[in-house]
Amino acid sequence: MWRRVASLSPLISSSISSYLNQAAYKFKIWESFTTDIPTQAKGGLFSKGKAPFITFVLGGPGSGKGTQCAKIVNNFGFKHLSAGELLRREIASNSEYGAMILNTIKEGKIVPSEVTVKLIQKEMESSDSRRFLIDGFPRTEENRIAFEKITGAEPDLVIFFDCPQEEMVKRVLNRNEINAVGTVDEIFEQVRPVFAGISCELAVPISPTSYD
Ligand code: C5P
Ligand code: MG
Repeated sequence: MWRRVASLSPLISSSISSYLNQAAYKFKIWESFTTDIPTQAKGGLFSKGKAPFITFVLGGPGSGKGTQCAKIVNNFGFKHLSAGELLRREIASNSEYGAMILNTIKEGKIVPSEVTVKLIQKEMESSDSRRFLIDGFPRTEENRIAFEKITGAEPDLVIFFDCPQEEMVKRVLNRNEINAVGTVDEIFEQVRPVFAGISCELAVPISPTSYD
């Protein structure tokens, strides 16, 4: 189905392929992680009977995909999964892959597909919903292949929010985008100026002892 969607729209497919190609060199990290993409586990996504309806939602930061996903959830009852969010949650849970994921994201690289796909798959399997929006995935062609191999499923729909870079930068700058990867104190150093800039009584800095 993915291939059919892509071939139906040259505009969409070329946008997606340029998006995927941006990270093509990052395939190397996968090669060094494993030489073999594991095959689909028995049961899993299809064990509840009806096959899930899977949508991949692609687009750069500030393209509006998160906002539109929230609307799709409200209007059509989909379950929204964000690959980046699942990875951040894994870091926060101090799991066996947490440190590796943190380092990979800090280096601006793509996390080995097996890890990301398994997080997505686990989330889908534990959900009551059978309709999914998977946001920020795939980031590479290799991500996509791993998803199909591991889950045995293909996307039913692929949506790409094609937004000019200039517009995305404008939106992101308006958003106070905090890079939420790092230690608590590193992240707070980005949060502090946002609040320090607010000129209202409630945002007046208070001494640390008064809220410790
Ligand atoms: O999509 P988001 O910006 O939240 O992703 C944050 C980071 O998570 C990315 O910069 C990348 O390092 C990692 N990521 C990944 N594979 C994905 C999605 C995100 O490695 N499919
Ligand atoms: Mg997002």
